[in-house]
Amino acid sequence: MSKAIGGYFELELAWSEEYHKNAIRLNTGRNAFEYILRAKQYKKVYLPYFTCDVMLEPIRKLNIEYQFYSIEENFIPKFDFSSVNENEAFVYTNYFGLCDSIVKGISKVCKNLIIDNAQAFYSKPIKGVDTLYSPRKFFGLSDGAYLYMNKIMDTEISIDISYKRFNHLLGRFDLGAEKFYNSFRDNDKGLAWQPIKQMSKLTHRLLTSIDYDYIKTTRRNNFLYLHKHLSETNKLSFNISDDTVPMVYPYLVDNGKELKAKLIENKVFVATYWPNVLKWAQKDSFEYNFTNNLLALPIDQRYGEEEMNRIIEIIKTII
Ligand SMILES: Cc1ncc(COP(=O)(O)O)c(C=O)c1O
Repeated sequence: MSKAIGGYFELELAWSEEYHKNAIRLNTGRNAFEYILRAKQYKKVYLPYFTCDVMLEPIRKLNIEYQFYSIEENFIPKFDFSSVNENEAFVYTNYFGLCDSIVKGISKVCKNLIIDNAQAFYSKPIKGVDTLYSPRKFFGLSDGAYLYMNKIMDTEISIDISYKRFNHLLGRFDLGAEKFYNSFRDNDKGLAWQPIKQMSKLTHRLLTSIDYDYIKTTRRNNFLYLHKHLSETNKLSFNISDDTVPMVYPYLVDNGKELKAKLIENKVFVATYWPNVLKWAQKDSFEYNFTNNLLALPIDQRYGEEEMNRIIEIIKTII
């Protein structure tokens, strides 16, 4: 059927250039992972303990064997890459968008590598390495994923519909974050156990309306500002290149729980990456300590020096 001309308007959005315009567009990051597993017919997957539990969804759906591996304090896997067999895949997460050089290093020594760039939207894929993205970790979107891989599944995939998932994104404008937190959680829950779909037209259009350069600059500036003021007390150190665009500022301390409570009391909301790790990893492991004591400080495009100073002031009352 031909497209309607005239009549009422749709939502007015700016036009920009899509950042990942050559990628396969899908409905969620986990389904991009499933797409890889299906297309490559892997029989076993190596996954980090330190990752999001939704990455297990496709593994369970396809009934594939999996094995966790540990990482070191600098995010480097403790793993013998030569043990990856022909029909097995190794998944590495580009933590907080700060691990591009580790990704590069692993890509040289590991076959059947899958890079999870859910936290590294701006990191370009490495040629020949299957790489997935979940843009809603960086922008106000309800769903969507990008995938780089050289094999396209030949089954018909329906197009996702997202317009009913916008309650929290729209409501936050009018009535504030707290009122719509449950709606945000419900949207997240609604993305579980979905079939692989193509990205919705709405999400695709939104991804063609974003000022990617402005967001890159703002995130980098906020990150560097926090780092200037907090690096002395941060147990993590970073190597930031001109291309690095972080998701958050990871601040690792000894009294993370106390500090997190203080931040929340002052309405600075920090997510826990990831609660499931406390169930998966040993109590004396790096990952367990990391999950408890890491503060993922917000540095996104909504904020500038004023908000960064507020965060720093709250932290300095305790540290
Ligand atoms: C590291 C990581 N990988 C993959 C995913 C899955 O992305 P999606 O929620 O788009 O399926 C998430 C979060 O949900 C994540 O944090």
